[in-house]
This record gives sequence, structure tokens and C-alpha cells, in this order.
Amino acid sequence: MMPSVPPRVRTLGLNKAYAVPVLSDVNFECLPGEVHALIGANGAGKSTLARILCGLVRPDAGSMEFDGRPYAPRHKRDAEAAGVHIVHQELNLVGNLSVAENLFLSDLPRRWGCLRLGELREAARTALARVGLAGLDPATPVAALGVGVRQLVEIAGALARACRLLILDEPTAALSDPQIERLFDHIRRLRASGVSVIYISHRMDEIARIADRTTVLRDGRIVATRPVAALPVAEAVRMMAGRDPSAHAAAPRVPGPIRLRVRDLRRAPAVRGITLEARAGEILGLAGLVGSGRTEFLRAVFGAERADGGEVQVDDSPPRRFSSPAEAVAAGLAMVPEDRKEDGLMLARPVAMNMSLASLASFRRASGLLAAAAERTAVGQTADRVNLRCASLDQPVTELSGGNQQKTLIGRWLMRDAAVYLFDEPTRGVDISAKAAIHELMGDLARRGRACVVASSEPEELMSLCDRIAVFARGRIARVFERGEWTHERILAAAFEDPAGGAQ
Ligand SMILES: Nc1ncnc2c1ncn2[C@@H]1O[C@H](COP(=O)(O)OP(=O)(O)OP(=O)(O)O)[C@@H](O)[C@H]1O
Ligand SMILES: [Mg+2]
Repeated sequence: MMPSVPPRVRTLGLNKAYAVPVLSDVNFECLPGEVHALIGANGAGKSTLARILCGLVRPDAGSMEFDGRPYAPRHKRDAEAAGVHIVHQELNLVGNLSVAENLFLSDLPRRWGCLRLGELREAARTALARVGLAGLDPATPVAALGVGVRQLVEIAGALARACRLLILDEPTAALSDPQIERLFDHIRRLRASGVSVIYISHRMDEIARIADRTTVLRDGRIVATRPVAALPVAEAVRMMAGRDPSAHAAAPRVPGPIRLRVRDLRRAPAVRGITLEARAGEILGLAGLVGSGRTEFLRAVFGAERADGGEVQVDDSPPRRFSSPAEAVAAGLAMVPEDRKEDGLMLARPVAMNMSLASLASFRRASGLLAAAAERTAVGQTADRVNLRCASLDQPVTELSGGNQQKTLIGRWLMRDAAVYLFDEPTRGVDISAKAAIHELMGDLARRGRACVVASSEPEELMSLCDRIAVFARGRIARVFERGEWTHERILAAAFEDPAGGAQ
């Protein structure tokens, strides 16, 4: 029997292949007023399906229907005309344009043709207030914003439009708890007004809270579509991986001598005097809200931003401030940055080259030539260690799924031996089993006497991974918790503290 209301969107036998099949015979549907979660391991095809739905990628075979009518968007514009909007996994804002211009980029010629700048700014303010960014000046260039704020700006842009189907591809990867709550409130409101939402995420707790049904993709095929209540997490994880995720009991870690000492590091306005140390064998977590200064702190330690005051000391080297990442690397630091597109990867270059970039010197022979075979072997081993999924090591990084791009970047620094590893949101967009693998790698590094410093906006991640957690608030450290002292609530409470006691 035909349902009286057709699905908002339905795909019939979709197929898509690049070098290899990426989507095979996908029959997917999302009902009006439904929040439909799409889950699957890195590279399963989630973003590709999303891109087809919003006209960015053409399927090789199959068809689609929207509200019961044939739907074959040839461009993003066609999809937007139907009311389909997407917030991308990879941030897509244009750095040198302002926040306001980015928010209404695709509408600029139509709605704001005669440069009604005042109106544009006003509309931007309303859109920003909706996601809790009331204080952000719409004239700010996007390049000046951190990843979390950029993600909120993208979400604000999508929410400002008349939507019939909203696709969110890993929308919360760089958000902290209060912002996630706010986003969920919006999603619930949209659902109540009949809008359909496709929600792509690796965070199973979020899916349990916000979604009505879940579809699991594995290697480009739909394995199951079920009401959320009928799909326990363990089963979902099994379906995604096609096997039981291995339980891993890690050997205990014993802290050794101090390898990183940071004294009163400052960089106006975000970092306002940070003192901390990390020992050999230790994983130190940095918690805090978006904008609390964690990223700026790590960048200042690493010399990616110039600090205005304070000192950094690695092992017994003289305390100093690094004025470039090259200096920091020479002193024994390694850093996996938050923004893999801008600070990390050379997207058009092969995986192998991106991975060996930081350790080329170790493959140099006296003759000055690279020991190509040794390099190749090391890259292959590292790719295995991080669980990388790609067609070949010669594939350009831009063709990898988001999670596999992140693993490439982590692989680069694992190939180089460093004393201290700085990780900024290392598992953003990484699937559950790869996340466990990355956590294991960090544990191995620590057990082999390295110090790891990890910033994450997921308190659960830090609580399961770290030996100590320093909570940042407004550019200072509000509290440092030892294992056993912390709870999610205590970390959150500290994140809202004002460590300066109200004084600026
Ligand atoms: N332009 C492209 N050229 C070649 N291969 C591609 C291209 N885009 C995607 N792929 C491949 O398609 C597969 C699916 O990628 P997709 O981005 O859809 O995965 P995903 O499920 O979104 O993964 P993630 O969780 O890591 O974001 C991957 O193996 C990827 O390498
Ligand atoms: Mg993806």
C-alpha cells in the first residue's frame, strides 16, 4: 500500500564509482519531519550520498524522487531551489570574505545585488544570533575565526534558508557541549515544522538523542535501516565494521621526567598566561569551550603563531619561544593541527608524499637522494598503523574521505620521531574503530616515553584517553584534574569559570 505522504527524498538504486565502486544500489529514504541518521566507517560513502542529494555529484545510475516527484539536480543551485541545503563536513567558507558575505554567498547576486550592505549585515546578525554568535561582527573575515566558530557560521547559513531537507555532515565535530545542545534545539524545531534532516555523525550518543531512524552504510551498501531504539550501539558498530571491534586492554603508563614545560605563555587576546608541563609517558588533555584558547595555545607553543610572552622548553634545551614550526620541529615537537585543509595537507598531492613530508630527512642518503624504497615501506607500515583506507598510496589526498585525510595527517607525525606530540582535535571526523586505533597509537607513544598533549571538544574522549585534563577558560587554565577526580559535569563547570575572577 502506498503511504499517503511520499518520502521527502528517496533514492532508487543509486550507483557511483570513482576508481572503485563507492555507492552500490543505494535505496535510501527520509520522510517529512524525520531526522534520519546516516552512519558508517570512514570511506563508507556517506558524504558521497549527501553530495548526490544536493546536486554536487552526479550518480552513475539510479534515480531520485523529492516529495514524490522525479528529482535530478544538475547543480547545487537546482537542489537549493527545491529547498535542499547542506552543511559540509569539510569547512567550505571562503577565508578572505567576511562572515556576512559567506553566510549569503549563494544568494549574493539575487538578494543583495545592489549592495545593500546594511541589510546584509542585519540579516547576518540575526542568523548568527540563532547559533549563539550574537557577539560576532558580521564584517570579520572568516580567516580570523577558529574551526568551531566557522562550523557555527556554516550552520547559521543553512538555518537562515527556507529548508525542506537539511543535510548535516558531521556538524558537531568541532563544537562543544552547549553549542551542540543549541543545534539540537534547532533540529527539533525544524523537525516539528516538517523539515527533514539527514544527520551524518560518528558520535553514537548524539544519534541516540536526536535521530528517529538510522541507516548504516558499509562499503557503499546499505546494511540496515532501523528505528534508533531498535539499533543498540554495539550492534551498529558491528554492522559498520562487518566484524566485532577488538577489545583492547592497554598496559599501564608510568610518568617519567618532564619533557615539555610551558611557562606563562601569552598571545593576545586568546592566550593569557598558560603554565603547564607534560611528562614522558603521559597524555595530557586540554578541555574547554570553543574559543577558550586551546588551539591558539598549541599554535603558539609550536611557533605557528608568535607568542607575545612566556617560554617553552623541550627536555633540557634552553627555554625559548619558537618563531616558526620548523624551529619547533627541530627542537623535538610535532603537531597535528585542527584545520587539516589549511595547516596540514597538500590536498592535490599523493598520500605517500603527505605522509613522509615531516620525516624526509631520515630517508636521505649520503648521496643526497631519497631512499625511495625505504620511504615507501615506512609509509606503507604507517598507513596500516593508522588504518588508512585508500585505493593506493599514490592517490591524491583530496580524493580520500574526511576521516582518512585526518589519518594521513596523523601518520605524517607518527613517521617522525618527536619528544612531544601536540594533537588538536585529532579524531575529528574519524570513525569509531579508527578512533580507538588512534587512541592506541597515542598510548603507544606515551609508553615509549613521549609526552602527548591532546585538545578535544569531547570530554568523553579526554576522560577515556588522558592521565590528566587541564580545562581552559578564557585563555587561562581554570582547573587541572587528575584521573579519578574528573566527571563530565566538573569539566563543564570549570570550562564556564572565569579563572581571572572577573578581572580582565
Ligand atoms: N573525487 C573522488 N575521487 C576518487 N575517489 C573519491 C572521490 N570522492 C570520494 N572518493 C572515495 O569514495 C569513498 C567514499 O568517500 P566518502 O567521502 O563518501 O566517505 P564517508 O563515508 O563520508 O567517510 P568519512 O567518515 O571519512 O567522512 C572513499 O573511498 C573515497 O576515497
Ligand atoms: Mg564524509
